[in-house]
Amino acid sequence: MNNELKHILYLVNETRGIDFTGYRASMVERRVGQRLPFARCGTYADYYSYLQKHPVELDKLIDVLTINVSRFFRNSMTLEYMADRILPAIHHRKKATRNYSLRVWSAGCSMGEEAYSTAILIHEFFREEGLAPDVNLFATDIDGKILEKARKAVYPFERIRDVKYGFLEKYFSKTENAFQLLPEIRDMVSFSVYDILDKNSSVPPESIFGDFDMVLCRNLLIYFNTAYQEKIFEKLYGALARHGYLVLGEAEIPSSKYERYFRRVNDCCHIYQKV
Ligand SMILES: C[S@@+](CC[C@H](N)C(=O)[O-])C[C@H]1O[C@@H](n2cnc3c(N)ncnc32)[C@H](O)[C@@H]1O
Repeated sequence: MNNELKHILYLVNETRGIDFTGYRASMVERRVGQRLPFARCGTYADYYSYLQKHPVELDKLIDVLTINVSRFFRNSMTLEYMADRILPAIHHRKKATRNYSLRVWSAGCSMGEEAYSTAILIHEFFREEGLAPDVNLFATDIDGKILEKARKAVYPFERIRDVKYGFLEKYFSKTENAFQLLPEIRDMVSFSVYDILDKNSSVPPESIFGDFDMVLCRNLLIYFNTAYQEKIFEKLYGALARHGYLVLGEAEIPSSKYERYFRRVNDCCHIYQKV
């Protein structure tokens, strides 16, 4: 990454406490480049000076760097596999110790689509078992503004287009030009701001202790360079319970240092079990 870009990222870190220095250089270049015309700057050096004089632009830059793209039931095959195989497997194992509660963490949850999709599947699973849902579902993101939206759970059609019609009817109410998730599912998820790179904690403080049966960390690792990915895997590995499951995005695999600590559960999905 060139020095001008590094200085921009140092400025973001110093002023807003968010560390993007571990993002892949090509990604940073592309994203910072998007802001240059808006600030009428020709070079990264000009943009650095602009940022120093216009702190409001720092927030706009953070918005483009924290790519919030998501949707309900993204990579539907992975979620179907989770519903059909992973949830029953976890439940079966825990039943042996008369512990019916599930602990799940959605890391880098954006507007909550992934956490809520998981909540719907867990809700369905417990209903089919004839049990009340017993789940601690934590969803975290570095972006506090996006979490405000996640709590409201109002979505444009674009973000719910992969929801099955049956679930749409059952779990959403239609507003003028959007869909709102019903409280039944909303109340299953606790949102909190958490930087996955936070050095002072091994799990989100809200969760008190990790010991997660399942961690979803999808489409976040792709933005980081290899060194930062290792740090993130260290945290994810530590947060999982024994034999817990790690669900990654379609373009993500455990880093070379961690691949021997995980077993891929099938060839179709990026779901890994802690060994
Ligand atoms: C592309 S979205 C992925 C959303 C969802 N997991 C999915 O796959 O659809 C990536 C999210 O990671 C968040 N993020 C970026 N850096 C982060 C960090 N250091 N700690 C926690 N979240 C971060 C962004 O704010 C964004 O909401």
